[in-house]
Amino acid sequence: MTRYEFLKSMGFTGAALMTLLTSCNKDESGVTPSTSVDFTLDLTASSNASLLTSNGYVISNNVVVARTSAGTYVAATRVCSHEAKAKVIFQSGEFYCPEHSARFSTTGTGLNSYASAGLLTYKTALSGNSLRIYS
Ligand code: FES
Repeated sequence: MTRYEFLKSMGFTGAALMTLLTSCNKDESGVTPSTSVDFTLDLTASSNASLLTSNGYVISNNVVVARTSAGTYVAATRVCSHEAKAKVIFQSGEFYCPEHSARFSTTGTGLNSYASAGLLTYKTALSGNSLRIYS
């Protein structure tokens, strides 16, 4: 049964049906993660100050960039592999999607059933105060 058929079977018709069909296109699902990224963050910039503390993170270019408790930097797409929602953050030393609680290791390995498809991660390289994120 298609979404259209389902909504029709629920009694929706005309403008109400069209509103329901089009409103679903406005959420954050269906985003495609970038397989190719290459950008640099200035760690002296105030907007990147959270990258100077353990488990701090920033979101830039739809990428979650984080500093681990070991002082290394990790990066992953913000787009969750579960339902393609751009909601991934860094929490308690892991990449985490609050939508359904998917948990990913710093290397992108899924840590629970919602995260079974893993998470696309990127390379990082620190040179002075410049942190490069690239694929
Ligand atoms: S969309 Fe991220 S856990 Fe479901």
